[in-house]
Amino acid sequence: MKEMVVALIAAARKAAEGAYCPYSNYPVGAALLGLDGVIYSGCNVENASYGLSICAERAAIFNAVGSGCQQFVALALAAGQDHPATPCGACRQVLAEFCGQEIPVYYTGLNNGPVFTTTVGELLPLAFGWQKELTS
Ligand code: THU
Repeated sequence: MKEMVVALIAAARKAAEGAYCPYSNYPVGAALLGLDGVIYSGCNVENASYGLSICAERAAIFNAVGSGCQQFVALALAAGQDHPATPCGACRQVLAEFCGQEIPVYYTGLNNGPVFTTTVGELLPLAFGWQKELTS
């Protein structure tokens, strides 16, 4: 595996350690490699009013955008043990706002296990907001 992917996965696993998930007990960590070369990470943060919880992917994106980075090279996600998670639908739409279809998404378990690869375009084909890119 490329060094960059290894580093990104390590950052996602590390980010999951910060998860606040007393309701689901399901920590998730996300790490985005910005075009600026910086890794921006995020974890899920839940709330007693469940619907106010935020996913790790969106936390990572908002962290990056708030830090001045809006362009990304890759995303890594760490969740679960035997069955790693892929981003939820809401996060896919937010990813589509800032990532092209070709951006790779690596997802794997919290501690170890195989690393799966997909792309933002595969996760949300024909995303709203991509009209220009998809019809020209
Ligand atoms: N979660 C994420 O952080 N990312 C996803 O893509 C799916 C779900 C979080 C939300 C909640 O805190 C916990 O996982 C269980 O749904």
